[in-house]
This record gives sequence, C-alpha cells and structure tokens, in this order.
Amino acid sequence: MMNDKLKRRDFIKTSGTLATGAIVGSSIVGSAYAAGSDIIKIALIGCGGRGTGAVFDAYASGQTVQLVAMADVFQENLDKTYKTIKAKFGNKIDVPESRRYVGLEAYKSAIADADVVILTTPPGFRPDHFQEAVKAGKHVFMEKPVAVDVPGIRKVLDAAKVAKEKKLNVVVGFQRRFQTNYREAIKRIHDGAIGDVVSGQVYWNSGGVWVRPRKPSQSEMEYQINNWYYFNWLCGDHIVEQHVHNMDVANWIKQKYPVSIQGTGSRAHRIGEDYGEIYDNFAVEMTYEDGTVVYSQCRHFEGISNRVDETFQATAGRAFLSASNQAILWDKNGREIYKHKPKGDPNPYQQEHVELFEAIAKGDYKFDTAEYGAYSTLTGIIGRAACYTGKVIKWEEGLKSNLDLMPERLAWDATPRPVKGEDGLYPAAIPGIDVEKYI
Ligand SMILES: NC(=O)c1ccc[n+]([C@@H]2O[C@H](COP(=O)([O-])OP(=O)(O)OC[C@H]3O[C@@H](n4cnc5c(N)ncnc54)[C@H](O)[C@@H]3O)[C@@H](O)[C@H]2O)c1
Repeated sequence: MMNDKLKRRDFIKTSGTLATGAIVGSSIVGSAYAAGSDIIKIALIGCGGRGTGAVFDAYASGQTVQLVAMADVFQENLDKTYKTIKAKFGNKIDVPESRRYVGLEAYKSAIADADVVILTTPPGFRPDHFQEAVKAGKHVFMEKPVAVDVPGIRKVLDAAKVAKEKKLNVVVGFQRRFQTNYREAIKRIHDGAIGDVVSGQVYWNSGGVWVRPRKPSQSEMEYQINNWYYFNWLCGDHIVEQHVHNMDVANWIKQKYPVSIQGTGSRAHRIGEDYGEIYDNFAVEMTYEDGTVVYSQCRHFEGISNRVDETFQATAGRAFLSASNQAILWDKNGREIYKHKPKGDPNPYQQEHVELFEAIAKGDYKFDTAEYGAYSTLTGIIGRAACYTGKVIKWEEGLKSNLDLMPERLAWDATPRPVKGEDGLYPAAIPGIDVEKYI
C-alpha cells in the first residue's frame, strides 16, 4: 500500500513535469491539477442525485481523488449529500464546514478550491458555471445538457475554446459515448459496415420524472429552482434535458449536425401548477446536409408503451442501439453482421470518470467534449423552438437566437419568468402564437 503510494507520488512528480511542459504558455500552470500533489482535488457543484453519483464514480475511478468542496443553493440538499458521501467515504473526503458553500454564488468558491469540478446543477446554470471553471483553469466533468438556450450555448462554445487553449480536460455526461456497445457498433458504422446512414428514429418515451410541490415558505425563485424540471430557464424542457442523449447518438453516427429541424408537441397529461410550462410530448424531424432525416420522439406519459433506443437505416443495412447494452447491425438482406455481446461491460457513468481521471493523473490532454456537448444540446434547443413555434428552423438561424431565458436578476427575491396567469397556471407555448417569445 505504502509502496504504491510512494510510487504514485514519484510518478506524478515526473509526469507532472511533462504535463506542465506540454502546456507551457497557457494559464493552466499552477492552477489545475499539477506536479507535486498525489491527490486530485474535486469540487461538487449541485449536490443532488447525479452529483452524488458522480462523486461516487470519481472515487471509483482508480485514481487518488479527494472531495474538498461542495456547493449548492439549498442548505438541506448540501447537508443531505454531505452526509451520504461522508458515510460512504469517511476520512477520504475533506470538506470542512468552511468549504461547504451555500447560495447562488457558492459555485465560485467551490470551483476555486479544486483541481477538477463536477457540474451537476440544473442545466440552466451550466454555462456560467462552466465559464467560471475554465476561467479558473480547472478540469471539468459536466452533466448534459450544457445549456437551455442559445446564448448559453454560445457561452459554452466560447469557454470550450479557452479550455482547449488551456488544455483542460472536459467530459460532458453523454454517457453513451463511453458505453461499449455504442462505441463498438458506431465504430463499425463509421467503417462502412452498413453503408451510408440515410434515415433513423430515436426515442425517449418514458413515464416522466419527479414533481417537487410548492412549500408555503418558498419564494417564487426558490420554488422554481427546487421544482426545476418544469421551467425552461432551468431545464430546457424534456426534449433538451433527456432526449438530447438520443439526438446526440444521431449526430455522433452522422458525424454532423442537422441543417434544419421541424416538429410538433404539446401538453397532454402534465397540466397543472406543479408542471410549470413544459410540454410532455415532442415529435421532431432532423434533416442533415446529405438529405438524411432522423425522426425523433420523446414523451412523458404514464402507463403506456415505453421506448428508449435508436434505429438507423443505411444503404447496405440497418442498426439498432440501446442503453441496455444492446447493439445489432444487419446487412441489406436482413442478415445479422454484428451483435454486441456484453461481457462485463463497464458502467458508462463509471467509465466517464475512469477515463477522465486517468487522463488528468497522467497529465494527458484527452477530452474536449464541450463542443459536441454544446451542439447536441443545441439540437434539442432548436427542436424545442421548432415545436413551440410550429416553424421549420434552420440550424444557422437557430444558432443566432438571442432568446435568453435566464432571469434578468438572479436573486432569491427576484421574480423569474415565467409568471403564472390568472388561471393559476404557467403559460405554455402554443404553436403559431407569439412565436418571437420562443425562437
Ligand atoms: N447523464 C445522465 O444520464 C443524467 C442522469 C441524471 C441527471 N443528469 C443531469 O444532471 C443534472 C442534475 O440532475 P439531478 O437529477 O442530480 O438533479 P437534482 O435536482 O437531484 O440535483 C440538482 C442539485 O443542484 C442544486 N442547485 C440548483 N441550482 C444550483 C446552483 N445555481 N448552484 C449550485 N447548486 C444548485 C439543487 O439544489 C440540487 O441539490 C441535470 O443536468 C440532469 O440532466 C444526467
């Protein structure tokens, strides 16, 4: 054990020199994980379900990591997660009360304390948090989606450029990109196993997620941030928050982004004060430059057929992929030419952290995923805008949008948009009406 530790310290001293050498001239020197330390320090920003999971994944990455700071807007969420993580890792975490930050600006202090930051708040905050992490020269694991509106996307793209210059590793939580069946099948598709992909269908049809009802003591801002799924400035709607996983698979396979998107959607079941302003179903067509059309469907309906997977048709065959470790390729006669056999495939959530922390420990610069993270998120955002407005939206037109969903003032006593109407409901988009509000 001791020998391993000594060996590791020696290794980091030498490889740290190399790492610094590789990035001379960039402002990373002396900020992100550097020579002389045998521990990679982590900060968690957003202490909820996924944040807790990501910390567990970081500790299981095979590298010597230590959680040193935590930030959340709600004291009770931070306390609960601190307790869970402390119970699991004991003295392997070092988060004294002075490094448990609470509030809307808490992320800044936590980011400053660490080498690597885990960004797992609701996605509306992600662009600002990512920008701050990059400015401070930190490596990043950030959950998808990386934004909820186009100004947020542009912020992430700008920060991604700086991260590249500083050689900061950035992994976005599109975990299918780290899942063996997807990697194996898509490599074969890119190598031409089924010819050119000409159409596809991608699905996230499931029962939906939690609701966090209003508590009498909450201000409107507290209520919306807590019940974040149902407000676009925080969540982006479920086409952005969840279905981007499947849209990202289409973009990954095509190695391109759509040139235009059109679609339709509505609220069928989820109507009422607790469900904010989001839709519960979307059906979208993504058209690529070469004429390929990928049809996308997502819905949150209880008690009917569920489906979360992707299928593609190509000039010499077809493909089926799913997060349940399945991948099958057929030739044009329907003969199976590849079937993924999962043999102890790593958990993709875990694998993201294994690869990220290995790169950081070795001083390698391996991951600049923020760009595809941003463009696949943009696919969902343009999809939402197409459905809310009923218009065909070209990619380039979408990318120019100045619709900024973030409240003008971010403070507990400020009133975020949307505001409830006289009927007690938050207004939801109606295609064709007030389209300038949604594009
Ligand atoms: N890759 C995946 O499969 C996957 C799975 C689950 C969640 N996620 C993503 O992870 C993110 C978080 O989801 P979750 O399920 O953990 O949500 P959650 O509600 O359980 O946790 C979010 C936490 O962030 C805190 N928070 C809110 N605003 C904050 C701010 N400005 N600064 C600091 N903390 C803030 C909340 O108080 C809460 O504790 C989302 O983007 C979600 O899409 C991804």
